[in-house]
Amino acid sequence: MNNETSFPTIGILGGGQLGRMSALAALSMGVRVKTLSPTASGPEAHIGDVTVGDWNDPAIMAAFVNGCDVVTVESEWAPAELAEAVRDPATAVWPSSKTLKIIRHKGRQKKALEAAGIPVPEFQICGSLSEAKEAFSRFGHRVVAKKFEGSYDGYGNATVQSLKELDVAWNDLSSEDGLLIESFVPFTRELAMMVARSSSGESVVYPLVWTEQKDHRCHAVTAPSPSSDRTQQVARKMALAAADAVSVVGLLGVEFFELENGDLLVNELAPRPHNTGHFTIEACHTSQFENHVRSILNWPLGDANLQVPAAVMVNLLGKRSGLVQTTGLEAAMGISGASIHIYGKHETRPNRKMGHVTVTASDSGTARSKAEQAASLIIL
Ligand SMILES: Nc1ncnc2c1ncn2[C@@H]1O[C@H](COP(=O)(O)OP(=O)(O)OP(=O)(O)O)[C@@H](O)[C@H]1O
Ligand SMILES: [Mg+2]
Repeated sequence: MNNETSFPTIGILGGGQLGRMSALAALSMGVRVKTLSPTASGPEAHIGDVTVGDWNDPAIMAAFVNGCDVVTVESEWAPAELAEAVRDPATAVWPSSKTLKIIRHKGRQKKALEAAGIPVPEFQICGSLSEAKEAFSRFGHRVVAKKFEGSYDGYGNATVQSLKELDVAWNDLSSEDGLLIESFVPFTRELAMMVARSSSGESVVYPLVWTEQKDHRCHAVTAPSPSSDRTQQVARKMALAAADAVSVVGLLGVEFFELENGDLLVNELAPRPHNTGHFTIEACHTSQFENHVRSILNWPLGDANLQVPAAVMVNLLGKRSGLVQTTGLEAAMGISGASIHIYGKHETRPNRKMGHVTVTASDSGTARSKAEQAASLIIL
């Protein structure tokens, strides 16, 4: 960066909450923001220069990319390939389509992690049902079957404990290139860690957090994780190695399984700001969203350390169907220290991520009870 900094424009492919919170961080640094998404779902409204259109149309993509210094994605499924194909040389696309290609496919992703020496659950890429049966018996008759592409919030996975269930999983989840079969991991906790990495190779690592799922969906995140110092150090090394393995530029969310002895396995990677990193807005010196923006612009990265002893984030999931109407917001605001984030989605449906609450405190127990209390008051 020169001493004289002109204010760049970033283009975000996606109109959801991750794009919205990245845009808010960018705008606070004077960075201009454009968004392109196929539908107007709400979170993108009023933030920067909004285009709603078919992002698979080369003309629409070219018009969007033109004038951006950097184009980024809020989801691994956004068409970064097309952005790269139509950009002029002055525009960068981060993360690259090469990184996205590895991460989108759960089999390719697991192979890349394994090749980098990063511990992962035992897995087999199965091209046929008979190979899946062989993996099922090799992994002790308890496995998780995973669709290679397109899953989220646990949709696309099935725990399999019998050959009958394996048949069902194969029918429901296999694609032309088959199915991923993983050994079932008897983890004691699920953890996550965010890494921000710039194109010059500078990286910062956020504190390790404990993530609790309800019905396969992230419910609460506690920072820092109550794991041992050794586990935290190992997670740091593994997260940095994972960022290198997929050559990410931008934010990378790394999900882990913690075993009874404190050892870690990497479950999966997300090449973008991550739900389990939302606590960083209030709890860290520099949020995941700000460091995402800084890293894609190759600006110096901010301090990723906690600036408070503890923080808990609880997701606000939709409880009804239809147009959004909120009750309980004011009551929740009465809980001191509760930071309430509402994503501005026009429509709600059961379990849709509609917002989150973060509470910082001197200990995680206090943060947890206040965050749960505030979240339980808000009906979206
Ligand atoms: N090998 C495994 N052993 C035990 N449980 C697993 C295994 N793989 C996944 N799970 C459970 O299923 C959840 C969802 O799995 P995964 O993260 O692969 O799914 P996803 O739908 O792609 O991701 P996300 O929920 O992060 O959007 C995990 O958080 C974990 O609770
Ligand atoms: Mg996951």
